[in-house]
Amino acid sequence: MSDLVKLTYQDQTFEFPLIEGSENEVGIDIKTLRAKTGLITFDPGYKNTGSCKSSITFLDGEEGILRYRGYSIEDLCEKASFIDVAFLLIFGELPTKKELELFNKEIRQDSIVDEDLKSILKSFPKAAHPMGVLSSLTSALIAFNPNSVDVDSDQDMREAIIMLMAKFPILVSWTHRKVKGLPLNYANTSLSYVENIAHMMFKRPHQDFTASPVLVNALNKLLILHADHEQNCSTSTVRIVGSSHAGLFASVSAGISALWGPLHGGANQAVIEMLEAIKADGGDTKKYMAKAKDKNDPFRLMGFGHRVYKNFDPRARIIKKAADEVLQELEITDPILQIAKDLEQEALNDQYFIDRKLYPNVDFYSGIIYRALGIPTEMFTVMFALGRLPGWIAQWLEMRKNNEPIGRPRQIYDGKTLRNI
Ligand code: ACO
Repeated sequence: MSDLVKLTYQDQTFEFPLIEGSENEVGIDIKTLRAKTGLITFDPGYKNTGSCKSSITFLDGEEGILRYRGYSIEDLCEKASFIDVAFLLIFGELPTKKELELFNKEIRQDSIVDEDLKSILKSFPKAAHPMGVLSSLTSALIAFNPNSVDVDSDQDMREAIIMLMAKFPILVSWTHRKVKGLPLNYANTSLSYVENIAHMMFKRPHQDFTASPVLVNALNKLLILHADHEQNCSTSTVRIVGSSHAGLFASVSAGISALWGPLHGGANQAVIEMLEAIKADGGDTKKYMAKAKDKNDPFRLMGFGHRVYKNFDPRARIIKKAADEVLQELEITDPILQIAKDLEQEALNDQYFIDRKLYPNVDFYSGIIYRALGIPTEMFTVMFALGRLPGWIAQWLEMRKNNEPIGRPRQIYDGKTLRNI
């Protein structure tokens, strides 16, 4: 195979090198395109655009493969904890026993936030969406921890990473406790990272709390499954904000806003709302299947389809199994589950969905588990953000370490040409 691509334009031929990844993905390196030809590429939604080289996550949407740093998502969900995976994503290797002990110790030491953050939280109306609150609180962390971080200093970077890994679960739990009207609490540092998240979220002031193994196991899996997903909308946001040399916390706060949308992380909330609406409307799934296929109807089947998975989302496979286990162990019978199962079966056998390779995605099932665990619907995307945090950190760090240029796409202007007033 030639390692050059030729482009002919206005009787001139230009050559561009090919670039090949370690999993044999091939791209055309067009860095010199505009300088050589005066042309730019036009690719709304960046469906064909590689924005960076990355060695964090590999996914093959056609084959349904997802790997973090070379380890399959199936293996990690089976054998690792969320904190192992966080370490792997951020530092590149699974931690040794000693490295993990130190990481946990440092996180425990930093598991506290400034008391004044409580007044910021208090000033939000109770009905405020938790994603907006979380994004604001994360941004506010900058004001309380204003020291600048030298990305070339391993010590500085480690401190910033530990700080975020330690404080973010507190912010998440506080947004949850605000929704639930519970007093704000702090970490129990004798617990593991995930047990502590459960403790901070669910502990009621008048009762003892021990997270059940079902809860801890389900949370571990959910967080691992969401921990990274290469250059998706929120991760690209984190990288592009960071590319202006904005700090880690500011970039993550922007990523949270990007994740909020119903076409991205907000889909897990949208799935449950859709299932409830179908139930309230008599439970006729066929009617909603028809709506989803009707081009004159804006309705889409939430939790179906994915920008890159044109085969079953491997995360959906794992999470579907986990959802079945949780519901069985907690002996939950949820009427909207039957609607979910009917929709899934109908869509998997429907020519419209088959032709467009629309399969259930991770969000189709994650909401069902969160609901079974007693997490309010508007908190679902916050749980996604909690899982995605190490991925955002790892991607931000990689972008800065690679000294990537500021992200600044071009456009094809199609507005008015010069005119007089
Ligand atoms: N229901 C009905 N039709 C759909 C759906 C759906 N959920 N998703 C895609 N289609 C159709 C489109 O109408 C289009 O049909 P056409 O070719 O006849 O015009 C075709 O499938 C391709 O759809 P696109 O929108 O071009 O696909 P894209 O890759 O841009 O979008 C997306 C992917 C945004 C995820 C889309 O499938 C969607 O809106 N799904 C529902 C929301 C959702 O579940 N999002 C979560 C994604 S996972 C995550 O972020 C963690």
